Amino acid sequence: MGKIILTGDRPTGRLHLGHYVGSLRRRVELQNEGDYDKMFVFIADIQALTDNADNPDKVRQNIIEVALDYLSVGLDPSKVTLFIQSMIPELSELTMYFMNLVSVARLQRNPTVKTELAMRNFGQGVPVGFFTYPISQAADIAFCKATTVPAGEDQEPMLEQCREIVRRFNTIYGDVLVEPQIMLPTNKVCLRLPGLDGSAKMSKSLGNCIYLSDTAKEVEQKVKMAYTDPLHLRVEDPGHVEGNVVLTYLDAFATDEDFVEFWPDYKNLEEVKEHYCRGGLGDMKCKKFLINVLNKRLEPIRLRRREFEKDIPEVYAILKKGSEEAREVAAKTLHEVREAMRINYFDDAELIKAQAEKYLNA
Ligand code: TRP
Repeated sequence: MGKIILTGDRPTGRLHLGHYVGSLRRRVELQNEGDYDKMFVFIADIQALTDNADNPDKVRQNIIEVALDYLSVGLDPSKVTLFIQSMIPELSELTMYFMNLVSVARLQRNPTVKTELAMRNFGQGVPVGFFTYPISQAADIAFCKATTVPAGEDQEPMLEQCREIVRRFNTIYGDVLVEPQIMLPTNKVCLRLPGLDGSAKMSKSLGNCIYLSDTAKEVEQKVKMAYTDPLHLRVEDPGHVEGNVVLTYLDAFATDEDFVEFWPDYKNLEEVKEHYCRGGLGDMKCKKFLINVLNKRLEPIRLRRREFEKDIPEVYAILKKGSEEAREVAAKTLHEVREAMRINYFDDAELIKAQAEKYLNA
């Protein structure tokens, strides 16, 4: 069986460096390696609505932002099918069938949902759609029989739940669907990039992000404010690497070539860390280097974004074409699903004949 790659993002804002190191960078590599039968990247607007039901315009506005981010990092619509979740009604249908294969208690145990519930304040109570979104996410993955899902660590419980649902489906109805595997970033620090303020995660709601579309000036200002080591008061003081956002970002981004280009005093990050811990290396020097490294990475992304921004109707056309392609795949899978579930009444000549005979002989 071939390799089918699928992943996606909620359209609740522009994408940031956490998305980039956690998944986007890997997607582009996977795309360019070409070792797959099919690759899908989609905008999860239905999922975004599960906690934004009263703010559909936010979702609507951010579809194009996420699409521009995708194209600007180098996802190529001739290689990857880019689509919008809600444009594939089969996903909602599959979600309904999956609902019967999951218990309320199992959903309550999902650690990602637990964390998100703690972070959100659902005044009117938790929407059923939010509570059940892991089921909808399982349908997102299963509709195309995805084998491989490049995503961050926070998506692991979602993948586990998807595998359980698929297993249950196949056990009851026969082998139709495929159990996917998550593909985590290989670099440890990329599993979960901390926010600029030192909190555990870069996240729009915490306001601690560097966005892919930030200008060079914005990147500079943000990095200058980044959290480092509160005990490192004077340059001579020994510094700490643990929890130091600037050094963590360098772990995620800096290459030895960057040192040759921007900071030839050191060969690599190990030497920098060693000096920093010993004392005598100031935060500002590290920050200046990080600004150079980030802007070098982000500049081609910004330039590509600007090109696509000049032809927004074309970006929507790309999403429309991708959605049509995805829908064909979904229709095929749902046909198999209905057949396996024995709810394909009108296609089932045997059924009609058997029922007819039953009543003729009555
Ligand atoms: N839950 C993901 C996020 O919060 C988005 C998503 C929805 C997704 N469906 C998916 C990711 C399927 C991977 C596979 O960003």
